[in-house]
Amino acid sequence: MAISATAILHRDLPLASLSSSPSSFSFPSCSDTINSTSPSSLQLPVSHSFLQLHSGFSQRICPKSQRQGLVNCSLKEPLKVMISGAPSSGKGTQCELIVKKFGLVHVSTGDLLRAEVSAGSEIGGKAKEYMENGLLVPDEIVTKILKSRLSQQDVRENGWLLDGYPRNLSQAQSLENMKIRPDICLMLDVPDDILIERCIGRRMDPVTGKIYHLKYFPPEMAEIYDRLIARPDDTEDKVKSRLETYKKNVEAISKTYMDVLHKIDGNHPRDMVFRQIESLLQVQSDKLETRTSDGSRTCILDENASPSMTSARKDKWRGIPTRLNNIPHSREIREYFYEDVLQAIQRALENGRIRLKVENNIPELNPEMDVYRIGTLMELVRTLALSFADDGKRVKVCVQGSMGEGALSGMPLQLAGTRKILEFMDWGEHGALGSFVSIGSIGAKDVNEQDDIFILVSPQNAVGNCIIDDLKAMTDAAGNRPVILVNPRLKDLPSSSGIMQAMGRDKRLKYAASFENGYFFRLLYYAGTQYPIMGALRMSYPYGYELYKRVNEPSGKEKYVIIATFPEKPTSEEINDAFEGKPRNNERSSAGIFGFLKSIF
Ligand code: AP5
Repeated sequence: MAISATAILHRDLPLASLSSSPSSFSFPSCSDTINSTSPSSLQLPVSHSFLQLHSGFSQRICPKSQRQGLVNCSLKEPLKVMISGAPSSGKGTQCELIVKKFGLVHVSTGDLLRAEVSAGSEIGGKAKEYMENGLLVPDEIVTKILKSRLSQQDVRENGWLLDGYPRNLSQAQSLENMKIRPDICLMLDVPDDILIERCIGRRMDPVTGKIYHLKYFPPEMAEIYDRLIARPDDTEDKVKSRLETYKKNVEAISKTYMDVLHKIDGNHPRDMVFRQIESLLQVQSDKLETRTSDGSRTCILDENASPSMTSARKDKWRGIPTRLNNIPHSREIREYFYEDVLQAIQRALENGRIRLKVENNIPELNPEMDVYRIGTLMELVRTLALSFADDGKRVKVCVQGSMGEGALSGMPLQLAGTRKILEFMDWGEHGALGSFVSIGSIGAKDVNEQDDIFILVSPQNAVGNCIIDDLKAMTDAAGNRPVILVNPRLKDLPSSSGIMQAMGRDKRLKYAASFENGYFFRLLYYAGTQYPIMGALRMSYPYGYELYKRVNEPSGKEKYVIIATFPEKPTSEEINDAFEGKPRNNERSSAGIFGFLKSIF
C-alpha cells in the first residue's frame, strides 16, 4: 500500500487497555550457564509513534515513511577510504570492485611507483631497486608523489581510495600533518600461508592492467594467458620479507586510525569479502553530510521525517545507540531497534528468504537482565506485523499455546499473558487487527489458507514441554510462506528452580538451524559481569556480523566503533581476539575475557 506523502506524525499514543495485564513476572534465564532466575518486572512501554495515513486501512506505525523521511541528501560529501593489509591480502582486487560501485579515485602508491619505473623517470629510477627487492621505498619519495596525486581535481571531487599508504608511523604522521584523514580505514586480514600462495600465483595482464591469479582467477582466454607477466617482487623470499616489514609497521597504522578502523576477514572468496566492505562503505556513505553548491554543509530533512530518529541516527548515536545499560530504554532507542530489525527482515523477504530468525537482545529484551519488558517485544512484533500489513499481506502473529486446560493451564513464565496483551494492544483505529493482522497459537491448526506470513513470538520450550513439535508442524503447514521467529529460545533452558531442560534437544537444534538469521543484536560484557558494556555484535541481513567496541571519548560521551566484521557469527574466541587486536590466524586462547554465553554462539 502506498503511503501518503502528507502523512502526519502523531506521538505518544498509549497502548490500549494494559491495566488487565499482570503487574510483575519472573522468567527463567536462557543460558545453560545460569541456573537461577532473577525477579523481573513486567513493564509495558506506554507510548509509540504513529503516522496517520490519509488513505489506507489503518492508522499505524509507519516505518516506510520513517525510512523515506530520514535524510534526503542531494550532494554528497565525497567519501575518503583507506585500505590497508599485508602484501597480496587482496587490496588491489577489492579496490577494483570499490571503484566500480562507489566511483572513488583509486590512489595506489604501488601503482604510482610502478608507473614512474615504467616511464623511466628520476623517481622511478630511485624506487626501482627498493621495489624489486621487496623493500619500502624511502618515505620522502613516496610521500611526494602521493601528495601531488591527492591534490588533483578528480580526487577532490570524487573522493579517494588510498591503497598502500601509509605503511609506517612516519607516513601516517605525514598524512596527519597534512590533515588528510580517511572517513574509514579498511584493514584486510589474511593468514600468512594464504598470502604467500596468492602472491606467487598472481599475474598481471600488461595490456589491460587486470590482476589475475593462476588458480583463483585464471584468465578466460588463452590469448590473455600467454601474455601474463609476474611482478619481480612476487617470489616467495621477497613476499616473506615484505610481510615482515608489514608486520613491523601494522600496529602504528591501526593505532593512528583506531577510531575509523574496520578489520575485514579477507580469507574468503573475493565477492564475499566485497560484500562486507560494501556494507561498511554504504553505511559510511549514508552518514556523510550533504553539501550545498556554495560549499556550506547541510542536511535536508524530508517533511515527514521523525526528528528524533534523524538526530539520533546521524549525530547522537553515530552507528548504534549509546547508553544501552540505562533501562528501561527510551522510546527513541526502542524505535531505533524496531526500525533496524524491520529493515533487515524486509531485505531478507525481498530476497525470497522464508525462514528467518530475529534475535534482538537489547538489555530490556534480554531475559538475563532484571528488567525484561514484554511490552517491548510486543511493540517490535507490532512494528513488523503492521509493516507487512501495509504491503497488503495477511499476517498471523502467534504465541505459544497453553499447556493445560482452564485453571490448570500453564505457559513458560516469560510468555504468560502475552496473547492477551497482543489482543489489547492498539493496532490502529482502522482495525488492522482482525483484517490484516490476526492472533493465534503456535501449531499447524492456526495455519489458514488466507495467511500470507507468520510471526512466531519468542517460542520456547519449558520443563516438561517441548514446543518443537508444534513449531515444526506449523512451519511445515506454512509451506513456502514466510515464517519469522522473534527471539526464539530453543537452546537448553533451566527452569525457575534451576532444573535444566534438555528435552528434544536434537530436534530443537535441527529446527533452529533451519532458520536463517535475519537480525542479531547483543551487547558484550566482560565475563561474569553485566557492566561495563564492552561492545556489541550486530548482524542485519544480508550483511555480515559487525563487532563494535564501546569507546569513551575525552568529552565523557560514549560511542561504538566497528573493529571487525565476520561473514558468519564469530565465536567467543574470535571476538576476544578482535578486541585484543590479534590477527585472525593466531592461536586461540581458551579463556575469554568477555562474557559471551556459550549458548548464544
Ligand atoms: P604494492 O603494489 O602496494 O604491493 P603490496 O602492498 O605488497 O600489495 P600487493 O599489490 O602485493 O597485493 P594486494 O593486496 O593489492 O593484492 P591483490 O589484490 O593484487 O606495493 C609494491 C611495492 O611498492 C612495495 O613493496 C614497496 O616497495 C613500494 N611501495 C608501495 N607503497 C609504498 C609506501 N607507501 N611506502 C614505501 N614503499 C611503497 O591480490 C593478490 C593476488 O591474490 C592476486 O593474484 C589476486 O587475484 C588474488 N586474490 C585477491 N583476493 C583474493 C581472494 N579473496 N581469494 C583468492 N585470491 C584472491
